[in-house]
Amino acid sequence: MVGDFVIGEKGTFSDCAQESFTLPSRYYTDPGIHDQEMSTIFQCSWLYVGHVSDLPDVGSYLTEEVAGQPILIVRSQDNLLRAFFNVCQHRGHTLLSGRGQLKGRIVCPYHAWCYGLDGALLSARMTRDIPNFDLAEFPLKPIQLATAAGLLFVNFDPTASPADGDLLDFEETIIGHIPEMSEYAAKHRFDFDIAANWKVVVDNFSEGYHIPIAHPTLSTLYNEEGGSSRIGKYFGCYQKTARAGFEKLGTKGGEPYVTWFLWPNLCLLSLPGSPQLIVLRISPNGPRRSLEHADIYSPIDVDSPNLEVIKSLFAEMFNQEDIALVESVQRGLESLGYDQGRYVADPAESWFTESGLHRFHKQIVEALDC
Ligand code: FES
Ligand SMILES: [Fe+2]
Repeated sequence: MVGDFVIGEKGTFSDCAQESFTLPSRYYTDPGIHDQEMSTIFQCSWLYVGHVSDLPDVGSYLTEEVAGQPILIVRSQDNLLRAFFNVCQHRGHTLLSGRGQLKGRIVCPYHAWCYGLDGALLSARMTRDIPNFDLAEFPLKPIQLATAAGLLFVNFDPTASPADGDLLDFEETIIGHIPEMSEYAAKHRFDFDIAANWKVVVDNFSEGYHIPIAHPTLSTLYNEEGGSSRIGKYFGCYQKTARAGFEKLGTKGGEPYVTWFLWPNLCLLSLPGSPQLIVLRISPNGPRRSLEHADIYSPIDVDSPNLEVIKSLFAEMFNQEDIALVESVQRGLESLGYDQGRYVADPAESWFTESGLHRFHKQIVEALDC
C-alpha cells in the first residue's frame, strides 16, 4: 500500500485511484519536499537534454543546466558522445557556455587548465615542479549518457542503466510512431517561465479530462472514443485518432494523435497530419516555479509540412491555455481554501480521465519514501 502516510485535510492518498484523495497542497509548496524531490527523483532519473543532431561533428558541444546541475555534452575524437559536469576540477569555474564547436580541447577560462574531449586533464599551467601533482587525478567528472530514438538523456546516478528508466521500451514506442526520429532535428526551441510547481505542469499534461473544456480548438482534433495505450513503470504512450476536417492540419480522420509521458518530467506530443514531435521538459525552479523547455522536432533536411502550423498551434494557443490553467491551480494550492480533491479516474485507465495523473502521483509518493 502506497501513501498511508500521505494524509491531508480530506483523507489519505491511496494506491487505488477510485478511492484516493489527491496529493495534499503541501506537495506543491513545501521547500523541504522540493529539496527531497531533487535528490530522490531528479538526481537518479534519466533526464532529457537534447538530440544527437545537436552534436554533428567531433568537437561539437552543448551545455545545459539539468535539474540545477551544469552539464556539458561533447562529441569526442572517437566519435562517441560524452557527458560531464561543466565544472573545472581546479577551482570549479564553469568551462563552456552555450553551444558550439571546439578545436580538440576544452580550456578553462579562469587559469587555462586544459582537458581533452574525453575529459582527461591534459595540462595545467606551472604545475611541473609541484610535488605529487598528478594530472590523472583531475579528469572531468563524467555523467551517464544514453540515447533513445536520437534523444539524449543524462542520469546523475553512476549506477543507473537505460533499462532502469524504461528508456528501451519508450524508445520502441517512439520509433514505432516516427521511425526516422534519430534523423530529426529541433527546428524551434521555446522556454517558458511558469509560476507553478513542476508537478502542476506535469499533472496537467497527464490527463485528457480538461481538454474538451479548456482547449476548445484542440478538442475538435480527436475522437473522444477508442484509442490505445502502452503503459510501463516509467512511461505511458497514448494513441488517439484524429477527427476528419481539422482544417489547419488537413486531417482526413483516423490519423494517430500520440502523447507520451516519461518519468519524471518529459511530455511528448505528436499531432495528426504532421511529422513533427513536440518534446517538453519541465524542470523545477524552486518549489513554486518551473521552467518549461519545448523543442519542436522535424525531419532534418526537409521543409516539412505543417511545421509553422504546429509551432503556432503549440506556442500561441494550447500551451498558452495550459500555462494559464497551471498558474491558476498553483494559486489555489497556495490558498487556505483548498487542500485535496478526488481523482476522476476509470478502471480502464483511459487517457480521457485522470488515471495517468494518479499513476504519476503514486510514483512521486514512492520516490519520496526511499
Ligand atoms: S578554475 Fe579552471 S583553471 Fe582554475
Ligand atoms: Fe492542456
